[in-house]
Amino acid sequence: MNKSSQSLSLAQKLHQQMIQLRRDFHMNPEVGFDVQRTAGIVAKELQKLNLTVKTNVGKTGVVADLTIPGATKWIALRADMDALPMDELNDVPYKSQVKLRAHMCGHDAHTAMLIGAANILSNIRNELKVNVRFIFQPNEEQLPGGAPAMIQDGVLENIDEIYALHVWPTLPVGQYGICVGPAMAIPDTFEITITGRGGHAATPHLAIDPIVIAAEIIQSFQNIISRQIDPLQSAVLTITQIHAGTAYNVIPDTCILRGTVRTFDKKVEQQIKQKMEQILNHITAMHQAKADMNYIHGYPVTYNDHALAHKAKDIAATLVGENNIDFPAQKMMGGEDFAYYAEKIKGCYIHLGCRNEAKGFTRMVHDPRFDLDEECLIYGAALHAELILKNS
Ligand code: NI
Repeated sequence: MNKSSQSLSLAQKLHQQMIQLRRDFHMNPEVGFDVQRTAGIVAKELQKLNLTVKTNVGKTGVVADLTIPGATKWIALRADMDALPMDELNDVPYKSQVKLRAHMCGHDAHTAMLIGAANILSNIRNELKVNVRFIFQPNEEQLPGGAPAMIQDGVLENIDEIYALHVWPTLPVGQYGICVGPAMAIPDTFEITITGRGGHAATPHLAIDPIVIAAEIIQSFQNIISRQIDPLQSAVLTITQIHAGTAYNVIPDTCILRGTVRTFDKKVEQQIKQKMEQILNHITAMHQAKADMNYIHGYPVTYNDHALAHKAKDIAATLVGENNIDFPAQKMMGGEDFAYYAEKIKGCYIHLGCRNEAKGFTRMVHDPRFDLDEECLIYGAALHAELILKNS
């Protein structure tokens, strides 16, 4: 590993401070737009750095500007601050202290490393040739996302390029991954209520059993991806919840299915939704039942600008060498509200390796046992800083 770069050694000096911040956020996770505590700490840290800090942007976001005399170009660096509504199952000293709240997507690390980068860049502001905007946003994890509210409040005004890092548990710490073009999918969600007719479990002929109908629907849905979508397109349809019934001997009146559809193409997205509707109509008609679907369209495709992706790769290579960069990285079926920024201006979303098998950090994000190798904070802060330093 090449640690000779200035940004890496400056990030190294801030490592303990970034770890402290990350662990504090980790122990006190907040979700959605309710990230007041986290945002308060972010604002306090940024104010120490002699930056122009704005709070309550996009409801509870924080934005700080580092203005360089004579510079005309503006680059934005973005971190998300929200946790997930779930319990952490790790047994670590910095375990989440809040029930049903946990930083299982690493946004605690994103926030800490962007504060680290702000620290580095404000200390070497004499060397910079571009203005920098640090964006800390709430509510990445749930629709409608936090990015639209931030954009509405003007965070992209004057901005030429925007970058974000996300911790990536499939990549070892000290490596980066960068997609060219599409990086993350359109993450739609749906809820289907199947209404039959409840009755006694012993007299199914007098009832309309929504559970058996649900089973038929779930089976038929599998045919959409495997038999009806062009195999060269990427698509996922997953049922993640099924809820029905309260007793051993009662056929319930309704059965609720929830799940997600992931695509990279609006046409494929539309095609899947239509096929789902057809299947619901036909199967329920066959059984004199009915189905109502509430289908919610997710974030747009997260798109990495080609030129920015190549530039980010070259800059990252100065930190860790070309052979430590997965480029072009494989796109992924996850969704990300960074898509909204990258839809408006040139953007690049970068995977930051956080895996360390020897230390046992191997779990995927959103796993209740996800954790990361905190060495990645150094590589995160350093790359944020280099993206500014090497840009002109
Ligand atoms: Ni995330």
